[in-house]
Amino acid sequence: MAEIVIVSDMAAAGELAADAILALVAQKPDAVLGLATGSTPLAVYRALAAKGADLSRVRGFALDEYVGLPPGHPESYRAVITRDVVEPLGLDPALVRVPGDRGPLETAGADYERAIIEAGGIDLQILGIGTDGHIGFNEPGSSFASLTRVKTLTAQTREDNARFFDSPADVPVHCITQGLGTIQRARHLVLLAFGEGKAAAIAAAVEGPITASSPGSAIQLHAHVSVLVDEAAASRLANVDYYRHAWANRLPWETL
Ligand code: PGA
Repeated sequence: MAEIVIVSDMAAAGELAADAILALVAQKPDAVLGLATGSTPLAVYRALAAKGADLSRVRGFALDEYVGLPPGHPESYRAVITRDVVEPLGLDPALVRVPGDRGPLETAGADYERAIIEAGGIDLQILGIGTDGHIGFNEPGSSFASLTRVKTLTAQTREDNARFFDSPADVPVHCITQGLGTIQRARHLVLLAFGEGKAAAIAAAVEGPITASSPGSAIQLHAHVSVLVDEAAASRLANVDYYRHAWANRLPWETL
């Protein structure tokens, strides 16, 4: 089962995730992080930046990227990762990849998978979840075995992300994303969600049937998952009392 931790707010979740990352980096200074974009993971990056640790050897692989934005577009995930992660955390930009950043798009997925394998795999993957249940940009119907590839965004995701663009029509139609199979290979998944708008997606991911219709439910197949949610995002979980009890009674060596 995933470890479900119900926190008071985003900042508390960010602290927990940042501590897990720092513990990893203390063991392995060139740890490989899976980096998510969107509003949710900002809590993690802010908490990490405040700790001021040396992360200059950490390697990173972004989860996903839009297809079709002009190079350097401020909402491209390369730009977002540079602004929100690489610069504030002092990562080496040469050690951070974004899907589709090299070579033709047709072969970019296979190239990205190879690069992750050559790096020794992702140690800790940070994840948000879409209101439609996607993780990465693996929209409903994505194969649990999928690897990095080009996908078409759902109308819901384009609507959700329109807030970052001048007009909803400017949100790209396509993306390139790590697959559910790629995510499954990471050694530790840390999924964060905040607010009532994520409650249904979290309930489906954590307690719903394992189905491609709820891509987040793929986490139920992973041996080491931490789900950090606020009260609102936890509000549709049936077993919430048990999750609180289990976390309150965790054993001294049990961390995320
Ligand atoms: P958000 O996006 O963090 O901006 O809500 C999450 C996601 O779409 O994965």
